[in-house]
Amino acid sequence: MRTIIEPFKIKMVEPIQMTTREQRQAIMVKAGYNPFLIPAEDVLIDLLTDSGTSAMSAEQWAAMMRGDESYAGARSFTRFETVVKSLTGLRHIIPTHQGRAAERILFSVIGGPGKVIPSNTHFDTTRANIEHGGAEAIDLIDPRNTDPTFRAPFKGNMDVPALERLIEEVGRDNVPLVMMTITNNATGGQPVSMANLKAVRAVCDRYGLPMFIDAARFAENAWFIQQREEGFKDKSLRQIAHEIFAMANGVTMSAKKDALVNIGGFLALDDDDLAMQCRSVLILTEGFPTYGGLAGRDLEAIAQGLEEILDPDYMRYRIRSVEFLGEKLIEAGVPIFEPPGGHAIYIDAKRFLPHIPAEQFPGQALMAALYLEGGVRSCEIGSVMFGRYDAEGRFHGAPNELVRLAIPRRVYTQSHIEYLIEVVIEVFQNRAQIRGLKFAYEAPVLRHFMSTFTPV
Ligand code: F0G
Repeated sequence: MRTIIEPFKIKMVEPIQMTTREQRQAIMVKAGYNPFLIPAEDVLIDLLTDSGTSAMSAEQWAAMMRGDESYAGARSFTRFETVVKSLTGLRHIIPTHQGRAAERILFSVIGGPGKVIPSNTHFDTTRANIEHGGAEAIDLIDPRNTDPTFRAPFKGNMDVPALERLIEEVGRDNVPLVMMTITNNATGGQPVSMANLKAVRAVCDRYGLPMFIDAARFAENAWFIQQREEGFKDKSLRQIAHEIFAMANGVTMSAKKDALVNIGGFLALDDDDLAMQCRSVLILTEGFPTYGGLAGRDLEAIAQGLEEILDPDYMRYRIRSVEFLGEKLIEAGVPIFEPPGGHAIYIDAKRFLPHIPAEQFPGQALMAALYLEGGVRSCEIGSVMFGRYDAEGRFHGAPNELVRLAIPRRVYTQSHIEYLIEVVIEVFQNRAQIRGLKFAYEAPVLRHFMSTFTPV
């Protein structure tokens, strides 16, 4: 088989900053060993997130120039609405400035004290918006699927018997909806199978509950279904996406991922009453229902991006380049969350740095080492983010210590990926020298964004 190439050529380039190790050392100290506090200019390969970091196409930029900035009833809204309606099959399309705005609006209407919202795994902002309104966010994932060493084709799946038990326990009236996050970002970027979506749908039908989809990476999920699930080889990504959305009563989407744009999102609904209530909340903080929190040009770019994301040549290259990175790391003995996810590789810092205990933040220490070695910016998803203190003030580490290498869409080339592989392997070979970190300043909330650290 021939090399799978980037199915695009480059028309515009953005220089990246070369730095020396000494410079990076000073930058890291100044940033308090927190990747969110490093100026982006001082990063060579930026894998902090795949969110809002995509390169837009010539067609998307052209569409932006056609943006209609009318306050109400803009042509750009009509285009956006047409594309999202035809993709999701849902009748009410509500634009928001990003995914979490859709979540906030939805859960401020249907959440509240006493309510329970199950998901395969909620993304952090979804959980935060649910909890902010006083409802409870519950993750229902088979514990085997959160084990980095366990290999299965659809580790993002929901534990369906656990869903039934939960509904029985809390009562169907306290479950306003069931949420499915595709792909499952908080569980290694792993996909959800069509069979699992159908099984969840069947449970929802039995109890008369709506099923919602967090569709941030729906197209990547569709690719995995096409490649890995029996009976989907001959279906197009669009057909598979339609089949997924046909099961949904509602969709929240961060367009910053699989709509290939730098900002945007939406809430799509089939329920007239709920849509009216959500639009009323939308007007308070986002804007009039035909623009939400967005400019007309943003709506154009999303509409165009949603068409491009389902191109099989794009998706083959996209998933293969992440998988290639994963394979090379596994070959070199680097422990990662297996199998490789759709949008990111998650290094298993617990096995990478067994000499660093949870309270010295092995993931954060590895993040720092990757930056010092090669100017690569990554993000810890471990005890900095999810560690907790009990009533006696004792620290409890997170179940996993991961470092996410999230790959922006259409931004880096094969040689960037090869460079990245070299950096990770070099750090792995010198891992015994890496030391843990302790808090210099521990932020009371949003610890991973605001805290600073020093080496132990
Ligand atoms: N849902 C999922 C599955 C996400 O991954 C994100 C964002 C959101 C919702 C929220 O969307 O950022 O547009 O408000 N994930 C980013 C990340 C931030 O880095 O994984 P948003």
